[in-house]
Amino acid sequence: MNPGKGQTMWGGRFAATPSDIMNEINASLDVDRRMAGEDVAASRAHADMLAQMGILSASDNEAIQSGLDMIAAEMRAGTFPFRRELEDIHMNVEARLRELIGEPAGRLHTARSRNDQVVTDFRLWTRGALAQTSHLVTALQAALVRRAGENTSTYMPGFTHLQTAQPVTLGHHLLAYVEMLERDRTRLLDCAWRLNECPLGAAALAGTGFPIDRDMTAEALGFARPMANSLDAVGSRDFALEALSTLSIGATHLSRLAEEIVLWTSPQFGFAQLPDEWSTGSSIMPQKRNPDAAELIRAKASLITGLFSALQGAVKALPLAYAKDLQDDKRLTFEAFDTFDLCARAMAGMVETIRFKPDMMQAAAGRGYSTATDLADWLVREAGLPFRDAHHATGQIVALAESKGAELAELSLADLQKVNSAITKDVFNVLTVEASASSRTSYGGTSPVRVAEQVAQWTQRLRLE
Ligand code: ARG
Repeated sequence: MNPGKGQTMWGGRFAATPSDIMNEINASLDVDRRMAGEDVAASRAHADMLAQMGILSASDNEAIQSGLDMIAAEMRAGTFPFRRELEDIHMNVEARLRELIGEPAGRLHTARSRNDQVVTDFRLWTRGALAQTSHLVTALQAALVRRAGENTSTYMPGFTHLQTAQPVTLGHHLLAYVEMLERDRTRLLDCAWRLNECPLGAAALAGTGFPIDRDMTAEALGFARPMANSLDAVGSRDFALEALSTLSIGATHLSRLAEEIVLWTSPQFGFAQLPDEWSTGSSIMPQKRNPDAAELIRAKASLITGLFSALQGAVKALPLAYAKDLQDDKRLTFEAFDTFDLCARAMAGMVETIRFKPDMMQAAAGRGYSTATDLADWLVREAGLPFRDAHHATGQIVALAESKGAELAELSLADLQKVNSAITKDVFNVLTVEASASSRTSYGGTSPVRVAEQVAQWTQRLRLE
């Protein structure tokens, strides 16, 4: 029956229409209109299957398919009449179909429910979003690998506790993020693989008595198989939770790099400068060059985690199967993807253009007794000391240098020999920043040779040549 003015499609048993506030809280169109393309695609697959199985006549299916063609064209042209009073995207498409083709439109909803329809659309949308986001992650990795390649022998202080620890190479530091992002990217792909089962045909919650072919709709929509349990199909959202938890971890990585950009571009560090395109000024302090994008990425990582947490909260106490709480899953998921994608793009832009200051980095790498471990290692290797004794002797040498306001390499041989008589002038060869970083040739280590190898591998893996 065609709903009359002011009536909903489900209004058969109701005497009165919903109140305005009820409509306001119930409507999801502003959010789920983003799944318009997916909704049309799923309806096409469903109608074709109904026709194939003899549940729908061939001529009705033709009418439905051509109506859906027109709707798709209207959507592309931006002329589709979205109507909030029709609640959601599914009702909007169906109502428009009825306007365009009349009676056969009412047959489309045979053997399906909005419950399986919405989650089919949502899985399709999320699958596409995961693919797009993984490409953005790859683009960021590519930018990092390029900058790492320029900086295989740029030396900087490596930190633990944000205290100078040992010299490292900038290339090595940047490649650490490439590794983290690779795990994020593959987590996104894992998630896409696991979500790729089709809920369509689960109907409201229990399946249907119509002789449908769920393999056919699954295949038409590019899913690996139909979901095996109808209650699970309409009631589960762990695919979205998995996507959001993955984005949350990825955003955490972006945030750590953002924090380093904030530190590095501060006058106190002076390791790097962001170009004008990626800086903002202060309305009162003319000298300021603020790394706003990096700061925003830092904050947005928490936002994404909050979105994950909100979805987890919505799902955790829901009895099976569908409940309207699940309508908000899309708002949270769309915002998480939009936010992450924007952050990934902004981070790639900053990484591509940030100007490193190798001299400042190298000078900082030489401060803070960063080669003390090299001195201790030398005592082990050349003077045969047990490492613990070498560590103790080096501690005494650092204290001596500190009292003189000098760096290790600035102490005289006589000073060093006062602490341990076995020390020779050869020790000075290991006390420089270059010598220290270059000596760390173990697999995964910071030496320029190892980093160059890693850059070459990543260049090949990401097909950057
Ligand atoms: N707009 C709804 C959602 O996003 C569609 C499903 C409605 N199902 C229902 N039983 N009322 O969840």
